[in-house]
Amino acid sequence: MTNSSIFPADFLWGGATAANQIEGAYNEGGKGLSIQDVMPKGITTPRTEGPTDDNLKQVAIDFYHRYAEDIALFAEMGFKTFRFSIAWSRIFPLGDETEPNEEGLAFYDRVIDECEKYGIEPLVTMSHYETPLHLTETYDGWVNRDLIGFYERYARVLFARFGSRVKYWLTFNEINSVLHAPLMSGGINTPKDQLSKTDLYQAIHNELVASALATKAARELAPNAQVGCMVLAMPTYPLTPDPDDVMASLTTERTNLAFGDIHVRGEYPGYYLRSLRDQGVELAITDEDRALLKEYTVDFVSFSYYMSIAETADESKRVIGEGNIMGGVSNPTLQASEWGWQIDPVGLRVVLNQFWDRWQKPLFIVENGLGAKDKLVEVDGQKTVLDDYRITYLNDHLVQVGEAIDDGVEVMGYTPWGCIDLVSASTAQLSKRYGFIYVDRNDDGTGTLDRYKKKSFGWYAEVISSNGASLTR
Ligand code: BG6
Repeated sequence: MTNSSIFPADFLWGGATAANQIEGAYNEGGKGLSIQDVMPKGITTPRTEGPTDDNLKQVAIDFYHRYAEDIALFAEMGFKTFRFSIAWSRIFPLGDETEPNEEGLAFYDRVIDECEKYGIEPLVTMSHYETPLHLTETYDGWVNRDLIGFYERYARVLFARFGSRVKYWLTFNEINSVLHAPLMSGGINTPKDQLSKTDLYQAIHNELVASALATKAARELAPNAQVGCMVLAMPTYPLTPDPDDVMASLTTERTNLAFGDIHVRGEYPGYYLRSLRDQGVELAITDEDRALLKEYTVDFVSFSYYMSIAETADESKRVIGEGNIMGGVSNPTLQASEWGWQIDPVGLRVVLNQFWDRWQKPLFIVENGLGAKDKLVEVDGQKTVLDDYRITYLNDHLVQVGEAIDDGVEVMGYTPWGCIDLVSASTAQLSKRYGFIYVDRNDDGTGTLDRYKKKSFGWYAEVISSNGASLTR
């Protein structure tokens, strides 16, 4: 089999970013502060009191001013779609106002204009680790039910303004990561070690209801829009064939699967209810919440995929490795990236099949990629990066996407993470690069911000123009 005929003709090839990791201009255009403005080191240190100069995200890669140049480069690669997030605090600087900030809306109009110029379909995340700081400090983020109403108002403004121009929407980035990073993912100010289980699971419930209300708003205001959930996918393998390890891996995996189950099926699964009972958690859930969850389920499921983990019931064998926000037990059969994330292309085929078998909803891979240190070199008088390691990583994952499509899985598209270098989320570094486009900026903030095409730029352009036929199996 070759991949030439495997990817559907309308497959959405593209790339993914998030506002706080690319835009900069943290206090321009009427933008309010977001939690990212007090997280200079990502999730590696506690939040700061206020903004600090060592926060690379204050400037990031200056997409706010350079978006036209960057989108032109995406178009040169042949992107069919571009995933970006709208910074909530550009639209509602505090989060609880009644009127939006016109300057913020106008910025995203301009970004969408640029996409339209090249026939690039925007794929918009409505909340990507960017809760307005005021909502965090005054309400404790998603722990407080009031956020449901604030988010619904925000969603209604977005659908009213952009709903006729943006078809694909994601309500919350990696919604399941709130279990592990309550501030970054849930805007929750209470430190993780002081946060009660009840507050944590109530925050999750509030987000899920808000997501359903956003879907309801889309149905009313943007009937052509499709609303998807977005989960952090991490297939969990039993460390050994011991049935106790198999059960342990299922239990761990279900902490993630629960989110898709609720988004797709519109109700809490029995295993999730049992886990709440076992943890002594009693949630405040209204009949209206239940009805909303049931009626407004998602049109598609999107997910990030970087790595898999293992699980075991044997405490003495639970060697925890690094990983995307949550990490997990290391798998001795796999190699890891420089940041310790275990590389597993086949895991992507596993996830695609598992999600398809489970939910029968179209799937969108909206993040995947290799964070690596790049070296800028000169070839034929042009600055570039010879990133064959990145090409290998992406090629091998895309081959597995082709296999999954051949298995009968409906895959809408693929937007590798950080299609242009950006500030990483967990460690807030620029030296952890994912892009096809190198951005001249260093971890100490120095650099010209100039953009250079890496070797992977031409490679990805060919993958897109051949609709996957150029992949090496
Ligand atoms: C996902 C996030 O967790 O992984 C992104 O949605 C993030 O925001 C990406 O950047 C890669 O993680 P990191 O920590 O390497 O930036």
